[in-house]
Amino acid sequence: MRTICIINQKGGVGKTTTAVNLAAGLSRHDKKVLLIDLDPQGNVDASLKVKADYDIYDALTNKTEIHQCVVNMGKNFDIISSKETLTKAEYYLARQENSRLILKGLLSKINGYDFMIIDCPPSLGMLNQNVLAFCKEAFIPVSTDYLGYDALAKMEKVIKSINHNYGNDLKITKIIPTMFDKRNKICKETLAIIQQEYPELTTYPIRQNSKLKEAPKYGKSIFNYAKSSHGAKDYGKLVEDTLAMSEIA
Ligand SMILES: Nc1ncnc2c1ncn2[C@@H]1O[C@H](COP(=O)(O)OP(=O)(O)OP(=O)(O)O)[C@@H](O)[C@H]1O
Ligand SMILES: [Mg+2]
Repeated sequence: MRTICIINQKGGVGKTTTAVNLAAGLSRHDKKVLLIDLDPQGNVDASLKVKADYDIYDALTNKTEIHQCVVNMGKNFDIISSKETLTKAEYYLARQENSRLILKGLLSKINGYDFMIIDCPPSLGMLNQNVLAFCKEAFIPVSTDYLGYDALAKMEKVIKSINHNYGNDLKITKIIPTMFDKRNKICKETLAIIQQEYPELTTYPIRQNSKLKEAPKYGKSIFNYAKSSHGAKDYGKLVEDTLAMSEIA
């Protein structure tokens, strides 16, 4: 099973949009996918209109067993959701022994999927440190503006430090330029810098596309909402790119 976190401590760079559409796209290619919402904003839930009896916070705090949190969203597509109570997880985790390894203990019990995709909150708090100590791959959406690029170097540092301190070997396997507008100078400049610095890792840019903004209102992925849109084409490429990579041992 490939374990991929969609992470960037900067807010609003397209993490949730990427997590939802990557997960939905992979499931349409006959891969069994579990999408986990680890953001207290619960944006995945809102985007796909999930109705769950239990969420990830209930499992983290031992109120229920992790398998009880899984909600089926359709063929090959399951979700574990979150809601605002997850904000309490930061405090809860900090008081536990091995506070960075709690999520790993929980998610290691899950198997039977080809992909586990985790949508992360915009922070470098306990939840994200737990994610980084568990996953093997990080996909980093980077908005094609100056601040988006600045956040990337910070993420690299944090990943190095968590790998070192918690014996993980997480690798950044994709950098995804997002919100790209070819008419905009700063977008073009930032894309060029990212491509130059990370030639192997940088994917095709995800263009700015209003359909990507609209789809969550209808609880649909971009493939169900507007299959001929730029958004569907760009995320379709990311899905194919992801399938073409081999699993990191
Ligand atoms: N390529 C795109 N074109 C147009 N709008 C987009 C695109 N990608 C994301 N958006 C919109 O931008 C906003 C932020 O995107 P998203 O919620 O995916 O970011 P995020 O990184 O998950 O944010 P947060 O850090 O708050 O969790 C949303 O309204 C989303 O619909
Ligand atoms: Mg988000």
